[in-house]
Amino acid sequence: MKLWLAPQGLHIEMARLGDETDIARLHAKGFYRGWSVEEFSSYILDEGRTPIYVAIDTKRRIAGFAMIRHLGDEAELITIAVDAKWRKKGIGRALLTAVLADLAMSPAKRLLLEVAADNTAAVRLYDQTGFTKVGERKGYYPRPDGSPATAIVMARDLG
Ligand SMILES: CC(C)(COP(=O)(O)OP(=O)(O)OC[C@H]1O[C@@H](n2cnc3c(N)ncnc32)[C@H](O)[C@@H]1OP(=O)(O)O)[C@@H](O)C(=O)NCCC(=O)NCCS
Repeated sequence: MKLWLAPQGLHIEMARLGDETDIARLHAKGFYRGWSVEEFSSYILDEGRTPIYVAIDTKRRIAGFAMIRHLGDEAELITIAVDAKWRKKGIGRALLTAVLADLAMSPAKRLLLEVAADNTAAVRLYDQTGFTKVGERKGYYPRPDGSPATAIVMARDLG
Protein backbone atom coordinates (compact mmCIF):
# COMPACT_ATOMS: atom_id res chain seq x y z
CA MET A 1 0.00 0.00 0.00
CA LYS A 2 1.25 3.48 -0.88
CA LEU A 3 1.50 5.82 2.10
CA TRP A 4 3.18 9.17 2.75
CA LEU A 5 3.26 11.20 5.95
CA ALA A 6 1.71 14.68 5.96
CA PRO A 7 1.67 17.55 8.50
CA GLN A 8 -0.92 17.84 11.29
CA GLY A 9 -0.94 14.08 11.99
CA LEU A 10 -2.41 13.38 8.55
CA HIS A 11 -1.17 10.94 5.98
CA ILE A 12 -1.58 10.52 2.24
CA GLU A 13 -2.75 7.41 0.47
CA MET A 14 -4.65 6.49 -2.68
CA ALA A 15 -8.38 7.29 -2.79
CA ARG A 16 -10.73 4.34 -2.62
CA LEU A 17 -14.44 3.89 -3.34
CA GLY A 18 -16.38 5.60 -0.58
CA ASP A 19 -14.16 8.72 -0.74
CA GLU A 20 -15.90 10.14 -3.84
CA THR A 21 -18.62 12.13 -2.04
CA ASP A 22 -16.13 13.99 0.19
CA ILE A 23 -13.77 14.57 -2.74
CA ALA A 24 -16.57 15.96 -4.94
CA ARG A 25 -17.74 18.25 -2.11
CA LEU A 26 -14.21 19.55 -1.52
CA HIS A 27 -13.62 20.05 -5.23
CA ALA A 28 -16.89 21.95 -5.67
CA LYS A 29 -15.85 24.40 -2.93
CA GLY A 30 -12.48 25.13 -4.57
CA PHE A 31 -13.53 25.48 -8.19
CA TYR A 32 -16.18 27.30 -10.17
CA ARG A 33 -17.05 24.13 -12.12
CA GLY A 34 -17.13 20.98 -9.99
CA TRP A 35 -17.35 17.35 -11.02
CA SER A 36 -20.06 14.92 -9.96
CA VAL A 37 -19.71 12.17 -7.36
CA GLU A 38 -20.13 9.64 -10.20
CA GLU A 39 -17.24 11.17 -12.16
CA PHE A 40 -14.98 10.88 -9.12
CA SER A 41 -16.09 7.24 -8.59
CA SER A 42 -15.01 6.39 -12.12
CA TYR A 43 -11.66 8.17 -11.67
CA ILE A 44 -11.06 6.20 -8.45
CA LEU A 45 -11.87 2.93 -10.24
CA ASP A 46 -9.44 3.88 -13.03
CA GLU A 47 -6.50 4.35 -10.65
CA GLY A 48 -3.91 3.30 -13.25
CA ARG A 49 -4.91 6.26 -15.46
CA THR A 50 -6.30 8.85 -13.05
CA PRO A 51 -4.85 8.25 -9.58
CA ILE A 52 -6.25 10.37 -6.74
CA TYR A 53 -4.16 11.01 -3.63
CA VAL A 54 -6.03 11.91 -0.42
CA ALA A 55 -4.66 13.59 2.71
CA ILE A 56 -6.64 12.02 5.55
CA ASP A 57 -6.77 11.64 9.32
CA THR A 58 -7.10 8.37 11.23
CA LYS A 59 -10.90 8.46 10.71
CA ARG A 60 -10.41 8.88 6.95
CA ARG A 61 -11.70 12.45 6.99
CA ILE A 62 -10.35 14.10 3.86
CA ALA A 63 -8.40 17.37 4.32
CA GLY A 64 -7.24 17.58 0.71
CA PHE A 65 -6.65 15.65 -2.47
CA ALA A 66 -4.73 15.74 -5.74
CA MET A 67 -5.57 13.98 -8.98
CA ILE A 68 -3.31 13.33 -11.95
CA ARG A 69 -3.75 11.79 -15.38
CA HIS A 70 -1.11 9.57 -16.98
CA LEU A 71 -0.45 10.42 -20.61
CA GLY A 72 2.37 8.07 -21.66
CA ASP A 73 5.69 9.73 -20.95
CA GLU A 74 3.93 12.77 -19.48
CA ALA A 75 1.47 13.25 -16.65
CA GLU A 76 -0.92 16.09 -15.93
CA LEU A 77 -1.91 17.46 -12.54
CA ILE A 78 -5.66 17.67 -13.10
CA THR A 79 -6.60 19.17 -9.76
CA ILE A 80 -5.39 19.77 -6.22
CA ALA A 81 -7.47 21.19 -3.38
CA VAL A 82 -7.17 21.52 0.38
CA ASP A 83 -10.22 22.17 2.57
CA ALA A 84 -10.25 25.85 3.63
CA LYS A 85 -9.86 25.04 7.32
CA TRP A 86 -6.73 22.94 6.60
CA ARG A 87 -4.97 25.41 4.32
CA LYS A 88 -1.55 27.01 4.93
CA LYS A 89 -0.38 24.05 7.02
CA GLY A 90 1.79 22.35 4.41
CA ILE A 91 -0.84 19.85 3.22
CA GLY A 92 -0.90 21.06 -0.40
CA ARG A 93 2.87 20.78 -0.55
CA ALA A 94 2.74 17.30 1.04
CA LEU A 95 0.18 16.16 -1.57
CA LEU A 96 2.32 17.45 -4.42
CA THR A 97 5.44 15.84 -2.92
CA ALA A 98 3.61 12.50 -2.72
CA VAL A 99 2.51 12.84 -6.36
CA LEU A 100 6.09 13.57 -7.43
CA ALA A 101 7.47 10.62 -5.41
CA ASP A 102 4.93 8.27 -6.97
CA LEU A 103 5.58 9.59 -10.48
CA ALA A 104 9.31 9.00 -10.00
CA MET A 105 8.46 5.28 -10.17
CA SER A 106 6.40 5.66 -13.37
CA PRO A 107 7.39 6.06 -17.04
CA ALA A 108 6.38 9.76 -16.93
CA LYS A 109 9.24 12.16 -17.58
CA ARG A 110 7.36 15.42 -17.13
CA LEU A 111 4.44 16.70 -15.04
CA LEU A 112 2.32 19.49 -16.56
CA LEU A 113 -0.43 21.63 -15.09
CA GLU A 114 -2.61 24.65 -15.77
CA VAL A 115 -3.31 27.28 -13.16
CA ALA A 116 -5.24 30.55 -13.19
CA ALA A 117 -2.72 33.39 -13.38
CA ASP A 118 -4.40 35.15 -10.44
CA ASN A 119 -4.31 32.08 -8.15
CA THR A 120 -1.38 33.35 -6.08
CA ALA A 121 -1.44 30.50 -3.54
CA ALA A 122 -1.27 27.77 -6.20
CA VAL A 123 1.29 29.56 -8.39
CA ARG A 124 3.60 29.99 -5.38
CA LEU A 125 3.16 26.36 -4.37
CA TYR A 126 4.12 25.25 -7.89
CA ASP A 127 7.07 27.67 -8.04
CA GLN A 128 8.34 26.25 -4.76
CA THR A 129 8.06 22.66 -5.94
CA GLY A 130 10.15 23.19 -9.06
CA PHE A 131 7.60 24.01 -11.77
CA THR A 132 8.38 26.63 -14.40
CA LYS A 133 6.08 28.47 -16.77
CA VAL A 134 6.01 27.01 -20.28
CA GLY A 135 3.00 28.80 -21.76
CA GLU A 136 -0.10 30.90 -21.30
CA ARG A 137 -3.74 30.53 -22.42
CA LYS A 138 -5.72 33.74 -22.41
CA GLY A 139 -9.42 33.58 -21.56
CA TYR A 140 -9.11 29.91 -20.57
CA TYR A 141 -11.05 29.69 -17.30
CA PRO A 142 -14.73 30.66 -17.22
CA ARG A 143 -15.61 32.87 -14.26
CA PRO A 144 -19.01 33.61 -12.71
CA ASP A 145 -18.68 37.35 -13.48
CA GLY A 146 -18.21 36.56 -17.19
CA SER A 147 -14.58 37.73 -17.51
CA PRO A 148 -12.54 34.56 -18.16
CA ALA A 149 -9.14 34.21 -16.47
CA THR A 150 -5.80 33.54 -18.12
CA ALA A 151 -4.25 30.12 -17.51
CA ILE A 152 -0.53 29.64 -17.02
CA VAL A 153 0.86 26.31 -18.21
CA MET A 154 3.65 25.01 -15.98
CA ALA A 155 5.89 21.95 -16.19
CA ARG A 156 8.42 20.09 -14.08
CA ASP A 157 10.85 17.38 -15.15
CA LEU A 158 10.60 14.13 -13.19
CA GLY A 159 13.36 11.88 -11.94
C1 LIG B 1 -3.50 25.94 -3.62
C2 LIG B 1 -3.79 25.09 -2.37
C3 LIG B 1 -3.99 23.64 -2.80
C4 LIG B 1 -2.58 25.18 -1.42
O1 LIG B 1 -2.79 24.28 -0.35
P1 LIG B 1 -2.20 24.56 1.11
O2 LIG B 1 -2.27 23.28 1.87
O3 LIG B 1 -2.86 25.73 1.72
O4 LIG B 1 -0.67 24.91 0.77
P2 LIG B 1 0.60 24.75 1.73
O5 LIG B 1 0.22 25.09 3.14
O6 LIG B 1 1.22 23.41 1.49
O7 LIG B 1 1.54 25.91 1.19
C5 LIG B 1 2.63 25.64 0.32
C6 LIG B 1 3.08 26.95 -0.30
O8 LIG B 1 2.05 27.47 -1.14
C7 LIG B 1 2.03 28.90 -1.06
N1 LIG B 1 0.78 29.35 -0.49
C8 LIG B 1 -0.19 28.59 0.07
N2 LIG B 1 -1.24 29.35 0.43
C9 LIG B 1 -0.92 30.62 0.10
C10 LIG B 1 -1.61 31.86 0.18
N3 LIG B 1 -2.85 31.95 0.70
N4 LIG B 1 -1.00 32.97 -0.31
C11 LIG B 1 0.22 32.90 -0.85
N5 LIG B 1 0.95 31.75 -0.96
C12 LIG B 1 0.37 30.62 -0.48
C13 LIG B 1 3.18 29.30 -0.18
O9 LIG B 1 4.30 29.51 -1.00
C14 LIG B 1 3.35 28.06 0.70
O10 LIG B 1 4.65 27.92 1.19
P3 LIG B 1 5.08 28.64 2.58
O11 LIG B 1 4.02 28.29 3.59
O12 LIG B 1 6.42 28.04 2.88
O13 LIG B 1 5.12 30.09 2.27
C15 LIG B 1 -5.04 25.64 -1.60
O14 LIG B 1 -4.89 27.02 -1.42
C16 LIG B 1 -6.37 25.36 -2.29
O15 LIG B 1 -6.97 24.29 -2.12
N6 LIG B 1 -6.87 26.33 -3.10
C17 LIG B 1 -8.18 26.15 -3.78
C18 LIG B 1 -8.06 25.17 -4.93
C19 LIG B 1 -7.00 25.61 -5.93
O16 LIG B 1 -6.91 26.76 -6.30
N7 LIG B 1 -6.19 24.62 -6.41
C20 LIG B 1 -5.15 24.84 -7.41
C21 LIG B 1 -5.73 24.76 -8.76
S1 LIG B 1 -4.53 24.81 -10.05
